[in-house]
Amino acid sequence: MSEPLQPGTAPEGGIAAVVVLAAGQGTRMRSATPKVLHALGGRSMLGHVLAATAPLAARHTLVVVGAGREAVEEHLAQVAPDARPVLQEEQRGSGHAAAVALAAVPDLEGPVLLVNGDAPLLRRETVTALLDAHRAAGNVLTVLTAEVDDPTGLGRIVRDADGAVRAIVEQRDATPEQRAVREINAGVYVGEAAALRRALGSLGEDNDQGEQYLTDVLGLLVAEDAPVGGAAAEDPVDVLGCNDRRELAARRRTLNDRVLDELMRAGVTVVDPATTWVDVTVTVAPDALLEPGVHLRGTTSVATAAVVGPDTTLVDTTVEEGASVVRSHVLGAVVGPHAAVGPFSYLRPGTRLSAGAKVGAFVETKNVQVGEDSKVPHLSYVGDATIGRGSNIGAATVFVNYDGVEKHHTEVGDHVRIGSDTMLVAPVTVGDGAYTAAGSVITTDVPPGAMGVARARQRNVAGWVTRRRPGTAAAKAAEAAGDAGAEAAAHTRAEASE
Ligand code: UD1
Ligand code: CA
Repeated sequence: MSEPLQPGTAPEGGIAAVVVLAAGQGTRMRSATPKVLHALGGRSMLGHVLAATAPLAARHTLVVVGAGREAVEEHLAQVAPDARPVLQEEQRGSGHAAAVALAAVPDLEGPVLLVNGDAPLLRRETVTALLDAHRAAGNVLTVLTAEVDDPTGLGRIVRDADGAVRAIVEQRDATPEQRAVREINAGVYVGEAAALRRALGSLGEDNDQGEQYLTDVLGLLVAEDAPVGGAAAEDPVDVLGCNDRRELAARRRTLNDRVLDELMRAGVTVVDPATTWVDVTVTVAPDALLEPGVHLRGTTSVATAAVVGPDTTLVDTTVEEGASVVRSHVLGAVVGPHAAVGPFSYLRPGTRLSAGAKVGAFVETKNVQVGEDSKVPHLSYVGDATIGRGSNIGAATVFVNYDGVEKHHTEVGDHVRIGSDTMLVAPVTVGDGAYTAAGSVITTDVPPGAMGVARARQRNVAGWVTRRRPGTAAAKAAEAAGDAGAEAAAHTRAEASE
């Protein structure tokens, strides 16, 4: 349904401005959070729109804010510090919002992209195609359109007998014939600044909502005989808006499918796309394998030959070549080449595993460097520590890093053997090649090559069961075993095992 493209009329270079309309209430979300800040695929809706329009290299990026403006402005400062918020005090409609934005840049000339803030599936290719069509046709206004199966609630594109775009009519103001039209207004427009300014200045509020509709600009320009047109989106999915939580879930699914399709095309194995969720900001290399139930978020990257999952969440985490992370929750960590994590590990920010290191079942780590080939195999907490290479941290070891007020550091050297159930009370250093005895509470440094023992010696009270628990199954078992101690009835000391 696009207008035929004509070559050669387009000016070179970037565009004058991108205007994102984001002041609306978003009532249908039923949320304390402004609609455009709801997130999917690792970005807010607004973030997606800004990412899609960024390649246009506009001289100004204006975001019209109103409802929830503090939150939107704070978010903008984080994700798009170059974008300028423009306040629309009263939400008097999308046309009023556009007029407020243009008033903030009085000497603007050339093409301006206007886009609804609630179009999270918009792609840069779609936006640039719209701009190309606009330039090629020499229009003063070009609207992005799409053919959809269900146009309910959307503005309809009204064309004349020759197929020329004449108007956009909102669903609530449309006649039954107009409602039957399945070509809709995507809420993305390119217009020449001067013509837009003129048309926006004469918008009325004579419609079902009593608002100034941006969509009426098109009809006003047609009445002036100015050249306007429509350009159809190549993929109608791109233009789907998002007005409530059900649409948000549907858009999130669509976005995720896109991300996974791209990964699979590039050579990543995704065992179960239905349960694998990957943010648009994540990178995964060819021949990585994602098992079912994997969530990759933020700045996470997964290198080739790595295996992630099943049932694993990685946030802002780097997984290097050939590493594996199984059934674990990992935040802000680096998992080195051929390192192994899980099952059931919890890696917190600042965890750095060197090549071949291992963190096993029911281990929590935080702010720790684990050296090459070192292992923390079972049931341990390791916080604020440096562990050298080739060391083994026995089961149930705790790095006691917190004195109730401050955190302290523990240093474990190379080829160390920390015995099971050792408490390493920081600050403390265990030197290269040292051991600690199982069950020790280590409060002072252990020099290289020494064995740190810090526990009471064992004593065995012979015959105790026969005397104190007579007649029990334990007493009978002891007698059957020839309980020497029962006769001796003496207390003896046993050598503590080391
Ligand atoms: C709008 C279009 C409709 C199109 C649809 C595509 C109008 C009148 N209608 O309908 O033709 O098919 O998008 O999704 O534009 N906004 C402001 N200030 C306001 C009012 C709205 O900034 O005073 C912003 C909203 O935050 C939103 C955008 O403008 O991002 C569109 O408003 P919305 O209420 O979502 O319009 P729709 O009914 O979806
Ligand atoms: Ca909308």
